[in-house]
Amino acid sequence: MTASARGGARAGVILAIETSCDETSAAVVRGGREVLSNLVSSQVDAHRRFGGVVPEIASRKHVESITRMMELAVAESGLELRDIDAVAVTQGPGLVGSLLVGLAAAKALALALDVPLIGTHHIAGHIYANRLVGEIRYPAVALVVSGGHTELVVLEREGSFRIIGRTRDDAVGEAYDKVARALGFPYPGGPHIDRLASDADDVNELPRAWLEPDSYDFSFSGLKSAVLAEINKAKMKGEPPMRPALARGFQESVIDVLVTKALRAAEAFGARQLLLCGGVAANRGLRAAMAAACGARGLPLSIPPLELCTDNAAMIGAAAYLKWVRGEFTPLDAKADPLLSLEEWSVKD
Ligand code: KG4
Ligand code: ZN
Repeated sequence: MTASARGGARAGVILAIETSCDETSAAVVRGGREVLSNLVSSQVDAHRRFGGVVPEIASRKHVESITRMMELAVAESGLELRDIDAVAVTQGPGLVGSLLVGLAAAKALALALDVPLIGTHHIAGHIYANRLVGEIRYPAVALVVSGGHTELVVLEREGSFRIIGRTRDDAVGEAYDKVARALGFPYPGGPHIDRLASDADDVNELPRAWLEPDSYDFSFSGLKSAVLAEINKAKMKGEPPMRPALARGFQESVIDVLVTKALRAAEAFGARQLLLCGGVAANRGLRAAMAAACGARGLPLSIPPLELCTDNAAMIGAAAYLKWVRGEFTPLDAKADPLLSLEEWSVKD
């Protein structure tokens, strides 16, 4: 069925599920852009004392809450189950046990309602969170910065993804969380470093990992080690680490590299818009620096509001709509894929 035929018959009301990591989320999204409900249950308290996400605990917590979250998402949308046109779910990447819980729930509901299932890519979701706040102009360049991913993606047209750069070691959010932990902050540490860095009067200058001059890849483990070395140096002298100055030095190094490479990519690929997304897009310093750099070049910038930057199901509903309008559905025997490829998930036309 063509996009217009399907879109004309139904509004494209998608019930979306996201359980790839430590948030259990369900949402109802109409037409890929209108969020009717978006409920997120964070497990962060269950993982905090371990300093990071424990996969086995994450799966169990998803099992406990997924059904209730789906019920609440429908109730809060003001619609009925019979109004749902498709069920979307994060198929990957993510923790396999966590993905499985969402996928099983989505399949059961799709089967019961006799509507299509749409297995959705988590990073496509982060990128298309931007569609929930406005039109996307193509070609676009997306900078995806989260706890598990750091990627520069070119979108020549709607639903087409080409990865031109990625981290060679730690993801940005992962580096934030590790540095925060070394400075004595609980998981997730990104917001603590962000706050400390914003309030700091001094800066402890740290190196930037530019890699090869033409590379769009990233590397953050050297920077993380540099912070740890500074903390050790202070310890040897019997002094406390200069936490604000270190946080600011770390954040400035991260932001400098992210902003510079994203803008170089935007120019090289003739982007008409830059999209910033993923949990680290909540970072105040990064948002401000990216806005300033794009403003100076007259390049439109889109950043979702904070609640759509971190993991949520509405973004999955937005990405799934790409497949809905094209009638590209997922068979009910589909498997969770922790290494699902974003490029292969691109739409077929
Ligand atoms: O996208 P997300 O919710 O989950 C993944 O898919 O990974 O991202 C979570 C990551 C965590 O590493 C967290 O520390 C980081 O986003 N984060 C931040 C900020 N808020 C969340 N990092 C830096 N500054 C922030 N304000
Ligand atoms: Zn994510």
